Amino acid sequence: MMLDVRNLRLHFVVRHNPLARYHHPDHVIRAVDGVSFAVAEGEVFGVVGESGSGKTTLARTVLRLVEPNGGSVRCRGRDVFAMDKAELKQFRREVQPVFQDADSTLDPRQHVADILEEPLLIHGLGDATSRRDRIAAALGRVNLSASFMERHPTELSGGQRRRVALARALLLEPALLIADEPTSGLDPLVSTQMLSLLLQLKRKRGLTLILISHDLATVSYAADRIAVMHRGRFVELAGGEAFEREALHPYTRFLFGLEARLPDAPLLEGVHEHLHEAEEGCSYLHACPHHLHDCHHAAPPLREVSPGHSVACHAQMACART
Ligand SMILES: Nc1ncnc2c1ncn2[C@@H]1O[C@H](COP(=O)(O)OP(=O)(O)OP(=O)(O)O)[C@@H](O)[C@H]1O
Ligand code: SF4
Ligand SMILES: [Mg+2]
Repeated sequence: MMLDVRNLRLHFVVRHNPLARYHHPDHVIRAVDGVSFAVAEGEVFGVVGESGSGKTTLARTVLRLVEPNGGSVRCRGRDVFAMDKAELKQFRREVQPVFQDADSTLDPRQHVADILEEPLLIHGLGDATSRRDRIAAALGRVNLSASFMERHPTELSGGQRRRVALARALLLEPALLIADEPTSGLDPLVSTQMLSLLLQLKRKRGLTLILISHDLATVSYAADRIAVMHRGRFVELAGGEAFEREALHPYTRFLFGLEARLPDAPLLEGVHEHLHEAEEGCSYLHACPHHLHDCHHAAPPLREVSPGHSVACHAQMACART
């Protein structure tokens, strides 16, 4: 198993600022709230959910860029949170992220060649000539010619910058790539090219891919399995191809345009975050047209309803029992 995540939790405590103009009490944002999943070698695992649902925080926690409040992450059997410095360095080679703002993190003063050389230098790989060959090969893998080495990021289009960021992640030959919103902000044609490129890398190099997006169409196109995330929790998990036909959770069905949701309170970020803290029951209660008595009092657990298909919804569990 490439990755095994069990009951992962990451809660942010936002403290009251006594100097703030308006009073806000301390509150807790349950950005990742008991998430479990496993990703097989060579699989494309998609995570989809609206803005603020916790996708990026989940990725950062899996990568051990933040310490979780609880739970475990195992990568090829090794406990990521128990790794020592040397093991962590190896883990950082094997598992590479491309974050949603990756192209804006390319230093505009550096040439693309210098940007791409950095990870090789950090890991002490090769001499100057072999490093240059590896950089040219990495650019080739993302369909950019070696002439791009001499350019600055400001001389590239958004799509080209995104591909340079991807080339940087691929340089260390990772086994697992975590791509956070790889197509956001790109026009439809360039988005499709980016997705095809990722799938090509999976096919040719056996790369395992976690594909994160707020856009269900993007994830459905590429993923073998899809997890739908809502307010820090996975609410449904199923195989990619049949997902639209078999979607059960009211939120997933809303994302596929199969049913409506109740008009919510306005999605002001602060209000939404307080709900993360205040809700005892189902996180979708405020918008769900089907809610039952149980939905107010207990968060529904993610339960398997058929092989490979799990859903967290009291109404669906009631249907499964009858
Ligand atoms: N460092 C932080 N401190 C406090 N709260 C945070 C922090 N980082 C994220 N959050 C909050 O955690 C929640 C999840 O954020 P996250 O960035 O993981 O969402 P996301 O699903 O990636 O959203 P998007 O689609 O907009 O990228 C949000 O409510 C956000 O405001
Ligand atoms: S648990 Fe209840 S409120 Fe939540 S999605 Fe299911 S029916 Fe709706
Ligand atoms: Mg995000």
